[in-house]
Amino acid sequence: MELFLDTANINEIREALGLGLISGVTTNPTLIAKEKVDFQERVREIAKLIYPGPVSVEVLAQDAEGMLKEAVEYSSWEPNIVIKVPIIKEGLKALKKIHEKGIKTNVTLVFSLNQALLAALSGATYVSPFVGRLDDVGHDGMELVSQISTVYNMYGFPTRIIAASIRHPLHVIQAASVGAHIATIPFSVLEGMIKHPLTEIGVKRFLDDYQKAKEFLEKK
Ligand code: G3P
Repeated sequence: MELFLDTANINEIREALGLGLISGVTTNPTLIAKEKVDFQERVREIAKLIYPGPVSVEVLAQDAEGMLKEAVEYSSWEPNIVIKVPIIKEGLKALKKIHEKGIKTNVTLVFSLNQALLAALSGATYVSPFVGRLDDVGHDGMELVSQISTVYNMYGFPTRIIAASIRHPLHVIQAASVGAHIATIPFSVLEGMIKHPLTEIGVKRFLDDYQKAKEFLEKK
């Protein structure tokens, strides 16, 4: 099980890397737009920071030719760039061609087992089921991750499952339990995974006890 950071924010990536916990980054057009920076510059900066880990960058074109063109361009920027392609008909056409060029792909906006199956059959390197967005509309997002894991294992598909649209630490526990290879998480979720009130109380109590014992010995 690996953790990727779902962000285009450099400070968050630096901090997570400092913790030694993340092995990749995923972005999407919304996350990049939030940063209000030059797209290519930011992608290259992220790719250099996370190298040799992958950074997923999403195509914006809506037609296969345009997607392929973007894929070829983005993947020439840095060696660890993975092309994120939405699972629409044009995306599938593009995936085949991108795959033939030896470029790694992350099939995104996956909301059903059929879509995940098509992604694997298209030779996707990664598939990204969106857990939180399914939960948002009253479906069990993690159940989809579990189904994908079962079917991929049954047929030996090498496509790696990224549990995406992760909203809280419990999603990470569940993703790990149902066989996701990776969870891509916002920085706030990473922080939430670290924190536990009993750890904080425990650290404080140990320090207080040690201090008390030290003062006692000093007074003797
Ligand atoms: O990895 C996909 C993710 O960025 C989408 O998350 O929270 O916008 O559903 P969210």
